[in-house]
Amino acid sequence: MPYSLEQFCEDARASLRKETGPAGLESLARYLEKLIVDADFVAEYLGPDKRSGAETIYIDPEFDFRVMAHTNRGASKNSPHCHGPSWVVYGMAINFVEMTEWERHDDGNVEGAAALVPTKKYTLREGEAHVYNEGVIHSLNRPLETRLVRVTGCDLDRTLRYRYDPEKGTVKVLEPAS
Ligand SMILES: [Fe+2]
Repeated sequence: MPYSLEQFCEDARASLRKETGPAGLESLARYLEKLIVDADFVAEYLGPDKRSGAETIYIDPEFDFRVMAHTNRGASKNSPHCHGPSWVVYGMAINFVEMTEWERHDDGNVEGAAALVPTKKYTLREGEAHVYNEGVIHSLNRPLETRLVRVTGCDLDRTLRYRYDPEKGTVKVLEPAS
């Protein structure tokens, strides 16, 4: 059954109307799993003509969630981070990412310091979507080129972000871009 971006956005909205918390996001993630295996969707938004980068392909007028198509034409890795007040849902369309989730084991009282402990490691495979609720710290390792879709709870460029260095035990607060 073909499944379009428009259908996904309608189903995502319906999920959030029922519940904006974790259960609503799990429901949204199951719809995202239908979208990322749709050959027409992948060809249009994540096709071989796309350069590396992220493109916002939908902004929801009711809930302000965003759908972003990510093309990474090479291997890449990022450090542990969370998206502050925004939840995010990642859906893997091509190849896979090695995901690590982390927890802070300090009390947050020392500015710039953070003790991180890895709590989960797993591979997010083609056709799978995963929910990261607000504040969940995660890092991505992409040994191959990848295509993925990310749905975010708001415009990430307007939120604070927290980037951690587990080896140095530090955290940096990144100011909004705009
Ligand atoms: Fe992230």
